[in-house]
Amino acid sequence: MYTQADLAPTGRSDTIRIHKPEDFVGMRAAGAIAAACLDMLVKYVAPGVVTDDLDQLAREFILDHGAIPACLFYRGYPKTLCISSNHVVCHGIPSAKTLKDGDIINIDVTVIVDGWHGDTSRMFTVGNVKRNAQRLIDVTYEALQRGIKCVKPGATLGDIGAAIQEYAEEQRCGVVRDFCGHGLGRVFHDNPNVLHYGTRGTGAELKEGMFFTIEPMLNLGKPAVKILADGWTAVTRDKSLSAQFEHSMGVTATGVEIFTLSPTGLHNPAAVE
Ligand code: MF3
Ligand code: CO
Ligand code: CO
Repeated sequence: MYTQADLAPTGRSDTIRIHKPEDFVGMRAAGAIAAACLDMLVKYVAPGVVTDDLDQLAREFILDHGAIPACLFYRGYPKTLCISSNHVVCHGIPSAKTLKDGDIINIDVTVIVDGWHGDTSRMFTVGNVKRNAQRLIDVTYEALQRGIKCVKPGATLGDIGAAIQEYAEEQRCGVVRDFCGHGLGRVFHDNPNVLHYGTRGTGAELKEGMFFTIEPMLNLGKPAVKILADGWTAVTRDKSLSAQFEHSMGVTATGVEIFTLSPTGLHNPAAVE
């Protein structure tokens, strides 16, 4: 019936779904477990650690908390986490490979709790990282914060993209165009597409009850990416370092509620050192 996985039914909505106040309760629970899973991993990230072992720790943590790993078997994806090191932009597959001193890695986790998705990622440093690598991490974190600051009723998706792109390019970083943030809720990847570049005042208007992620990927070099032969791993074409942070959030009457904050502040690279 479907020749491409992309054409299979996904539950993706034609319009941007507006959620009810009680739906925020579900998203808070899912977001908290996703953030707690990344918090749990902090102390295990070190030189010599096998990325598959991090994946197993995450899977057990998620199941122990009554949640479901959303990525496992999603469109054939084989693991719980995406672990993307250095010039890997996103969708790096955990494997027998070990972390090395100086690596910068993004760990991305999505959980399902009572049907609601919590999707978040952050950067981790392995041992001592070079100054340009730390700068990329800090710029990417700030780019996400600038995008989040735009979120309120009456703003547009273009406002978010423009805020991220202007800041990133001012800092001489390339904004990846091939992947974007997304609506989420009971559906993992729903409308709208949340682009990390764009023009203020354009695109859909934000309304109370919309849920989506913002997840900018910034490169020290050019924005272009390619996908490796495994069909998942996205890398920078120029082999430059890439970083990403992601939060899931909802539009409130007055602004934004971030569902995937770490209660201990570990989502902020400045707090992790
Ligand atoms: N968590 C990723 C996102 O931010 C999606 C990963 S899909 C997978 O949207 F199949 F690669 F796991
Ligand atoms: Co996402
Ligand atoms: Co994610």
